[in-house]
Amino acid sequence: MPANYYYDFISRELSELRERSLLRQIPSVDNGADKFLTFEGRTLLNLASNNYLGLAGHPALKQAAIEAVEKYGTSSGASRLICGNYALFDDLEAEIADFKEVDDALVVGSGFAANLLIVSALADRHTVVFSDKFNHASIVDGIRLSGARQVRYRHNDMDHLASLLEKHAGVERKMLITDTVFSMDGDLAELATIVDLCQHHKVLSVVDEAHAAGIFGKGRGLAAELGLADRVDVHMGTLGKGFGSYGAYIAGKSDLIEYLRNKGRPFIYSTALPPATVGASLAAVRLVRKNPAMGKNLLAMAHDVREFLRSLGLDVGSSETAIIPVLLGRNDTALAARDALVKQGVYVGAVRPPTVPEGTARLRISLRADLTENDIGLFRKAVSDMMEMI
Ligand SMILES: Cc1ncc(COP(=O)(O)O)c(C=O)c1O
Repeated sequence: MPANYYYDFISRELSELRERSLLRQIPSVDNGADKFLTFEGRTLLNLASNNYLGLAGHPALKQAAIEAVEKYGTSSGASRLICGNYALFDDLEAEIADFKEVDDALVVGSGFAANLLIVSALADRHTVVFSDKFNHASIVDGIRLSGARQVRYRHNDMDHLASLLEKHAGVERKMLITDTVFSMDGDLAELATIVDLCQHHKVLSVVDEAHAAGIFGKGRGLAAELGLADRVDVHMGTLGKGFGSYGAYIAGKSDLIEYLRNKGRPFIYSTALPPATVGASLAAVRLVRKNPAMGKNLLAMAHDVREFLRSLGLDVGSSETAIIPVLLGRNDTALAARDALVKQGVYVGAVRPPTVPEGTARLRISLRADLTENDIGLFRKAVSDMMEMI
């Protein structure tokens, strides 16, 4: 009986995950975007969310969301191409295109959907897609969905990338896609070399600024920070992290965006984002534009925190952002360290394979702009005490 097969299979898989300390469970967290969250009834300092600028609770975003609900209700009612559009969407796309200094932008349901959309619309089985080994799962899945040949280069290894580009010099349709800030390591892509290589080999370049948008380049992203924005073909960024809302944008030349509006299945065949979200996103982009130093201040705070962690002998990898890994190796050590921090009043993520490579389980600390000296003091003490406990 096929059904029996599946019940046995599922139960075996779950037991294996449990035995290897890899079973994922939704934690009983409340207020998970706030600086202080509730975990199993306790109030803890939240160093786990991607609400890097603390905007998710900002009065301007809340007010914009409320006004959007008052005006438009709770749902868009349909996909954008049918009748799910409303003026806030057009305003948001115009604002993003202006901010990013590109012709046009398209706002879609999530960062995951944006990556599926970009790769599946622009690549097919005749395309080779070059992809950093540490790229986000949505990029990997986008490549799979497109049917393209995936060529993965070792993380940030530009010699490896160059040799793979040479190897595929005869292929006409080529794309390269990379995170600009890697989500589990907090390190940066070698964008200057990547852009040079892409231009030399006539490769379409796509950057995923999920963890850089709102922070680097006065909010425009890492490509802008490095003066490379106009040499990148496709800019993607999320609205649910630094911008404190939800959704994602794809920005670039008019024809490109027009093409994606016509060919991007996750855009065409999905209900448009709800008004509250789009209203909050528009307020967030405007707020970041008005306060361009927010990201820089956060990065300075992250620099000090990394120095502190290093002074304790902890390995923070190559982080250069507000995402700071503490590399611990074993899955059970990462869990014990996370539990020790929780005991001391601080909540961080414990990240294990398959999210990160085998043997590199870690704490993932993500800092936020609204932390005070006191909060950082609490964190420092918690880490020092944790060292005694693991
Ligand atoms: C690099 C990267 N791209 C895309 C995504 C997906 O974005 P979203 O959470 O908006 O679906 C993430 C999410 O963590 C990410 O880290």
